[in-house]
Amino acid sequence: MIWNQARKGAEMGEDRQMELHITCIPGDGIGPEIVREAKKVLDKVAEKYGHQMLYTDILMGGASIDVHGVPLTEEAIATAKAADAVLMGSIGGDTTKSPWYQLPPNLRPEAGLLGIRKALNLFANLRPAVLYDELAAACPLKEEISRAGFDLLIMRELTGGLYFGERKTVVENGVRKAIDTLTYDENEIRRIAVKGFDIARKRRGKVTSVDKANVLDSSRLWRKVVEEVAGDYPDVKLEHMLVDNCAMQLVKNPAQFDVILTENMFGDILSDEASMVTGSIGMLASASLNDTKFGLYEPSHGSAPDIAGQNVANPIATVLSAAMMLRYSFDLDKEADAVESAVKQVLKDGYRTGDIFSPGCVLTSCSQMGDLLAERILGI
Ligand code: IPM
Ligand code: MG
Repeated sequence: MIWNQARKGAEMGEDRQMELHITCIPGDGIGPEIVREAKKVLDKVAEKYGHQMLYTDILMGGASIDVHGVPLTEEAIATAKAADAVLMGSIGGDTTKSPWYQLPPNLRPEAGLLGIRKALNLFANLRPAVLYDELAAACPLKEEISRAGFDLLIMRELTGGLYFGERKTVVENGVRKAIDTLTYDENEIRRIAVKGFDIARKRRGKVTSVDKANVLDSSRLWRKVVEEVAGDYPDVKLEHMLVDNCAMQLVKNPAQFDVILTENMFGDILSDEASMVTGSIGMLASASLNDTKFGLYEPSHGSAPDIAGQNVANPIATVLSAAMMLRYSFDLDKEADAVESAVKQVLKDGYRTGDIFSPGCVLTSCSQMGDLLAERILGI
């Protein structure tokens, strides 16, 4: 990341010109199409704000299996590490039809994603879920609930728990048996809790820590450590909620939430639910961060193999992920605001991809949506 001060006497933090090295993972399914549109928008930001975006693509998931026989290579990891940030589309295919799913689990597309999260130590996964006024009609909740709107963020632990515990399948006395292990140590819990409280401080000052402390030891430790961390944040309100109740509250009263802080598996499930109540999973961005400014940015949705290659996917979640990259990895808040405003404007102007279409709107393709967003990037 190289910075130049553009104007003599410019204030620090203003009018910086940056050379940004971004590793892109187009991936599988609709991935290549949506990443292409996000690059289009980023290039427009670069042009308007005087930055340079330099992209290097790497293969991951099925695309990597087809070429290298494995879902993620050491070279790909090294390329990602050398960049300032990583922008990803999506990986994976149809689990019932694709030959990728005939391979052993550690060679399937998802293993590439888990591998890069671990290799880059991306333990903090931020998944914002916002109900846009323009899309209120697509919200599946009753009007009396959706009327209140909501703007929440799921802070999901991403490199521990069931996803990374020891697992095996054995045959005992002729009976097949599968074992997955759920472990968390206090350091893993503390570092994600700190991220959760830090971000709550910049939002509305409330953390809902979600666990299953009425059953699981890992949850009881989670609760204790979160309480300890809360001691350093007297200005942030903490509440605990059991995960089953949280699943219910998300459809009953989503407006109550600011930051939902939770472990890996619960966060996976709750974030799909939260995104659906916004009306379209095609709108939701995510950031996966380590302890530095480095991050991997990807839409919360999957690779949608059923619509891949048809130019009908919604690129907005990927574009909003690129906005998160500008904000969190590069500290380019004005540029991130410009991208988010372009998204709001394009919706206001009535353009919709198929997933968020409602009568009276203009149906647009994936590439048209990219063009329309790029046109709406306003300069300084
Ligand atoms: C997600 C996805 C992944 C996960 C899969 C593809 C491994 O569902 O990012 O939410 O479970 O973390
Ligand atoms: Mg998921």
